[in-house]
Amino acid sequence: MDNRTRDKVFYITTPIYYVNDIPHIGHAYTTIACDTMSRYKRMKGFDVHFLTGTDEHGQKIQAAAEKQGITPQALVDRIHLNFKELWKVLNISNDDFIRTTEDRHIRVVQAMFKKLMDQGDIYKGTYEGHYCVPCETYVPESSMGPNQTCPDCGRPLTMMKEESYFFRGSKYVPQLIEYYEKNLSGVMPRIRYNEIMSFLRGEVRDQSVSRTTLKWGIPVPGDEKHVIYVWFDALINYAAAVGYLDNPERFQRYWPAVRHMVGKDIIRFHCVIWPLMLLALGLPLPRSVIAHGWWTVDGEKMSKSKGNVVDPFKMVKDYGLDPFRYFLLREVPFGSDGDFSEAALVGRINSDLANDLGNLLNRTLQMSESYRGGVVPAAGSGYDDILGSVLENVDAAMERFAFDEALKEVWAFIGRANKYIDETMPWKLAKEQDDPASVAALDKVLMNLFEALRLAALLVAPVMPQTAQRMWAQLGLEGDPLRELYDSFHWGMGSGTRVRKAEVLFPRIDIREWQKAREEKKKMEEEKKAPAAEHEPEIAIEDFKAVEMRVARIVKAEEIPKSRKLYKLEVDLGYETRTVCSGIKAFFTPEELAGKRVILVTNLKPVKLCGIESNGMILAASVKVDGNAESLTLVAPEGDIPLGSRVS
Ligand code: MSP
Repeated sequence: MDNRTRDKVFYITTPIYYVNDIPHIGHAYTTIACDTMSRYKRMKGFDVHFLTGTDEHGQKIQAAAEKQGITPQALVDRIHLNFKELWKVLNISNDDFIRTTEDRHIRVVQAMFKKLMDQGDIYKGTYEGHYCVPCETYVPESSMGPNQTCPDCGRPLTMMKEESYFFRGSKYVPQLIEYYEKNLSGVMPRIRYNEIMSFLRGEVRDQSVSRTTLKWGIPVPGDEKHVIYVWFDALINYAAAVGYLDNPERFQRYWPAVRHMVGKDIIRFHCVIWPLMLLALGLPLPRSVIAHGWWTVDGEKMSKSKGNVVDPFKMVKDYGLDPFRYFLLREVPFGSDGDFSEAALVGRINSDLANDLGNLLNRTLQMSESYRGGVVPAAGSGYDDILGSVLENVDAAMERFAFDEALKEVWAFIGRANKYIDETMPWKLAKEQDDPASVAALDKVLMNLFEALRLAALLVAPVMPQTAQRMWAQLGLEGDPLRELYDSFHWGMGSGTRVRKAEVLFPRIDIREWQKAREEKKKMEEEKKAPAAEHEPEIAIEDFKAVEMRVARIVKAEEIPKSRKLYKLEVDLGYETRTVCSGIKAFFTPEELAGKRVILVTNLKPVKLCGIESNGMILAASVKVDGNAESLTLVAPEGDIPLGSRVS
């Protein structure tokens, strides 16, 4: 640690993620934002501590483990790795990863619970309320959805009554209001600050902090019938990880510098309950809780049931890591909701990355190669500083966690550099190299472009670390741009660098090809999906043989006046003619059916449909949506085979 980092400390946390969910872009987003901020602060000379982790207790885990016939511990040991793997793939530079099933966490949770109990801030009572089992929360009547459903997941709530320990948070509310009145950046952005303040000024009740309804949790010290409520347990991770119990020196260093980044859905836990717990424990409050918005996908809420959950592993595989990181932070103002679409991602790759940044690098390296043999000349006649106030503006935006604005600033600078090429026309100067003034002018232009790219690499580094490193290498620079300090970002640093051969940074995506491939993929996926949804249990060959099926011909089809779906069919089996009612009216006219050869199940027990006795069933394949056939085709024998032939 050099001198600079001694007093500049920055501790940032992501929420700890529920392990029962498969990681999606929502999780990726928070973690990439924290990673970018951590990398930025490191370049600003801060001693950064970046924490993430997993939330592993609770009802859902217990239920999932029971279903799989394994212990909850075995389950979480396996599935928390999904998150660790994702962070590796997303190039996340976290300094620590905490799991709530680790001993270092459990001991702190119990110690804090006990301290609060001993000082009378946790007491025993009875809790009764509407409980959402999947979300593990009691839902106040005022926030219930229609027909007593959970406002978050929409599922029905269960009335529950249990003995419970309560945290006397209400006692500390006035102190918290006072704190926020003095610290306007205690909750960011302002819209969330206002939301929290109005909540605090309403009636804040004591929190139920234990459960007797589940086992998979941390036992209440001295009363093992209860386990500690998952949120009380989870929030403590932030303090446990930096040594609340075990390493006071470390705790003193990082704790006062803590910032929590969270999604807007969990701000009450972070901006009300957690600070009330900290006040009761006599600990400093977080500098800021920064709340971001939610991602929808192609305009719709992301959900497993809709099947539109965006898989970050797949996005990285299809589009590359840095474009994905860039897109998430550039696309929406931090704090607002945003819509994810691959089309928008492709748009940004082509315009911002391939066109603006990629081209600038490519053109510059190629010109250096052709006009100066790849050696960047010394700018004998000075610099044209096109950087302006970019550094200050980026800094100001980053202080507000406005990643999108910081990136806009950087891209305005990249745009200016591209324009500088058009204005100075180096290709024209290159033709006038007999003139010493043109020689000097071309040297100057090339040097300035090199400088622009060197600084662009440094400025994009927190968001796109690999891109920065690739640019650095192509510019022929030594060392690692990620280790450079922001204070040393000056214009006009060096000369004489031998640049490398230009390599394409971001290949352009051909929109037509992309669309075609996408449609084909979608079609294939749908085809794959259709039969998979309808698997039946395995049967023995005898079961199959018991079904008698024969080739038949539809003689005629008639409407059944009372039925919207059924036709009355007359079917010829060669050896007899039968009446069959078939639900295929939506797909054929009677004329289309007459004369068609089909396969008929002949030994089905007769049934009466709309007053008509049906003697068999014709086979058809269909695509079903929500249980209803959307398209349908009849199964027919190929070639000529006598009516009545057996199908086996
Ligand atoms: N385990 C709790 C947090 C405890 S922190 C002490 C939890 N976990 S979570 O896995 O459900 O959610 C973690 C984060 O993902 C939240 O900040 C949430 O806002 C975020 N997101 C989940 N879906 C999201 C989107 N569709 N878009 C953006 N972020 C979203 O809550």
